[in-house]
Amino acid sequence: MEPRMGEPVTDSTYVRCLSYGLVRRLAELIDPQEGWKKLAVDISNPSGESRYSQVHIRKFEAFVQMGKSPTCELLYDWGTTNCTVADLVDLLIRNQFLAPASLLLPEAVRMPQEVTLPLSSQETLPIHEKQLPVQEKKVASVKPALAQSTEKQHSDSSYSSQENSSSQSSNTDFQNFLFHDLESITNNFDVRPESAGGNKLGEGGFGIVFKGYINGKNVAVKKLIAMVDVSVQDLKQQFEQEINIMAKCQHENLVELLGFSSDGAQPCLVYEYMPNGSLLDRLACLDETPPIPWNMRCKIVQGTANGINFLHENNHIHRDIKSANILLTDTYVPKISDFGLARASVTFTQTIMTERIVGTAAYMAPEALRGEITPKSDIFSFGVVLLEIITGLPPVDENREPQLLLNIKDEIEDEEATIEDYVDEKMSDWDVPSIHKMYSIADRCLNDKKTRRPDIKMVQQQLQDIKT
Ligand SMILES: Nc1ncnc2c1ncn2[C@@H]1O[C@H](COP(=O)(O)OP(=O)(O)OP(=O)(O)O)[C@@H](O)[C@H]1O
Ligand SMILES: [Mg+2]
Repeated sequence: MEPRMGEPVTDSTYVRCLSYGLVRRLAELIDPQEGWKKLAVDISNPSGESRYSQVHIRKFEAFVQMGKSPTCELLYDWGTTNCTVADLVDLLIRNQFLAPASLLLPEAVRMPQEVTLPLSSQETLPIHEKQLPVQEKKVASVKPALAQSTEKQHSDSSYSSQENSSSQSSNTDFQNFLFHDLESITNNFDVRPESAGGNKLGEGGFGIVFKGYINGKNVAVKKLIAMVDVSVQDLKQQFEQEINIMAKCQHENLVELLGFSSDGAQPCLVYEYMPNGSLLDRLACLDETPPIPWNMRCKIVQGTANGINFLHENNHIHRDIKSANILLTDTYVPKISDFGLARASVTFTQTIMTERIVGTAAYMAPEALRGEITPKSDIFSFGVVLLEIITGLPPVDENREPQLLLNIKDEIEDEEATIEDYVDEKMSDWDVPSIHKMYSIADRCLNDKKTRRPDIKMVQQQLQDIKT
């Protein structure tokens, strides 16, 4: 372990007194995969109530867009309550963030009782930390009571075991690529952006996406990265799950999965390449692409709704509907990507609770922020996409009032503004009635009460009515 600077950290050190450098290093381990979100929802006030509401969590989420660390902001805020390192280490161990816990109090993770960790959590640490003495596969908590709480961490994996047992990646029609081949078609996973001669197309919650060329066509290779709070086991599950779901999901509005590789250091997914990138980037006219006309925007949301309908008809909840996951072909046909978070839901009436909160907070329905999984949350997220389509604005922007795009709904409700005020100035072919129709659909999708939101079939029908 690197030498620690300044005052030695003990159980009773206040979190607010930790050095900036140490907090940064903690953040490096907790920021990836939105680990901070897992911690934030687990922090309670002395009264026992959750300290952070969905509004707070959305505010922390906004820091990501600002290029800041939500973990630092979270620790700064929580630190104001005079919580101590012991409290923080408890929280970390309870949520299986062993590497950051050991950074604070190495003994807490190493000694004194020899509790053997389940395999999945042993593999939770990044490779470069595997040689460290902390990794002696022994764990004990600061307070004895915490030992039991690690058990609940595994409920999520048992939840998907049914899907996994049926997953046979070797049995699919997809191509099984060699990691080595993917390496060579992506110029050794060159992380420089395309503009700088590299192969990187983008980066998301589970890895980096590279452009490659194989069998006469361009492909997108998503290399999944093992992060500190995602175990190899989870990642493999995620991988097989994605393969499984994608195998069943073939539709003109879903990105096609061409194959995968699982023989290398990291599992990879190979998708069809989408030349026009994401809807998020095209609405922002990134790289000086032309603004999308209104007429085409209507077709894009109609196609997207068809894709969601296909998923819902097949009992899949996407759970991460957002404009970054709506990709565009050369002719701007929308295709939804990333079914990794989707879970087959047994029935639609039954909603399932999960400890793991997934998705991007700027798109998340109130119940989704609480960990509930229901197709109605996809509808809510789609409502945010509809607002993006009308306004051309990003879903969150710290330099804006309101920061969250979904909050323009309140302004409009309170008659402080009209939707016409918000129409994207970068388009010229819009008309008032069709804007109103689209907004009214968005408004209903964004109802805080999930039962009041339309289902995807209704949304599809109403979108069809918008004739431009
Ligand atoms: N098949 C593809 N073709 C072209 N570009 C792609 C493809 N898949 C992804 N990209 C680009 O890479 C970016 C990153 O994708 P990725 O799925 O890793 O992250 P994300 O969509 O922003 O977040 P999330 O992890 O929640 O899905 C996308 O926004 C898109 O610009
Ligand atoms: Mg994505």
